[in-house]
Amino acid sequence: MRDTLQKLKETAWRQIAEAGDTKELDQIRVQYLGKKGELTGLLRSMGSLSPEERPVVGKMVNELRQELESLLKERHASLEAMELERRLKAEKIDITLPGRRPARGRRHPLTQVLDEIKGFFIGMGFEVVEGPEVELDYYNFEALNIPPDHPARDMQDTFFITEDILLRSQTSPVQIRVMEKQRPPVRIIAPGKVYRVDLDATHSPMFHQVEGLLVDDSTTFGDLKGILAAFLEAMFGKGRRVRFRPSFFPFTEPSAEVDVECIMCNGDGCRLCSNTGWLEILGSGMVDPRVLEKVGYDPKQYQGFAFGVGVERIAMLKYGIDDIRLFFENDIRFLRQF
Ligand code: DAH
Repeated sequence: MRDTLQKLKETAWRQIAEAGDTKELDQIRVQYLGKKGELTGLLRSMGSLSPEERPVVGKMVNELRQELESLLKERHASLEAMELERRLKAEKIDITLPGRRPARGRRHPLTQVLDEIKGFFIGMGFEVVEGPEVELDYYNFEALNIPPDHPARDMQDTFFITEDILLRSQTSPVQIRVMEKQRPPVRIIAPGKVYRVDLDATHSPMFHQVEGLLVDDSTTFGDLKGILAAFLEAMFGKGRRVRFRPSFFPFTEPSAEVDVECIMCNGDGCRLCSNTGWLEILGSGMVDPRVLEKVGYDPKQYQGFAFGVGVERIAMLKYGIDDIRLFFENDIRFLRQF
């Protein structure tokens, strides 16, 4: 029995010393001290010993059990410390590493161009106003001197909601809304979304315009030319020729379309300008007296000029973009370039 105990002690001590972690150590504890453990088994088999041997062996087994328990406890503590150390090393954070920068956003190219346009006109003393996108036929057409069944309506294929409610096809209705509320002098720009039934590389069912309107008691076509020439210089650079071409809009008389010298070929003629050397940029004119009358301004006392610019058109020319749909697909690879 003594030998058995001695052997058991030797193997147990070796196993404990060799245990690599607390899990292994727990298994060793069960192996000796568990319900079916080796030492427990020995205690149970004491019944077969003689009455003289029983207390002697019992004492030995109990001593061994205590030693084993304290050894296990000690080893458990040191293994636990080692494990903690290992974990701390593995999970170490290098606080000297540079942080991960969040991706920086930027303004959409159309917003950038719009801000430039606004910046120019604010500098010229214009006020920025807005009007509704869901508009009455009256403001979008009728008050702008485009009566029902007038052929000029065909120029703008319109989304109608009811017979007299529509998605505005131009920002010009804001002119009327402002003049109805305000006496001259009026000096506003009205940026915003407009809608037309149209879709190809250069037309989108939703796009942006900036409307301009100035009404005062001594406004001339010369004022219009001066402001628009300065505007186009701000947009496309100094020294580029600008021309005013006679045109027609129902709400202006006379009307003019404004062209700028082609920014790609400098007027020589190329694919961008269809070999004309010129790029059409905007529509403009002197506010038609009938429009002034409709809002209760006396056309003998007041004159005004107006203009309408397409924001996408300017952005496409400035950045050499050949498909308007790119603005609205929101492909980050496209947007990142601006
Ligand atoms: N509203 C016109 C369009 O969408 C553009 C325009 C032309 C606006 C002449 C004006 C203007 O204010 O005077 O085609």
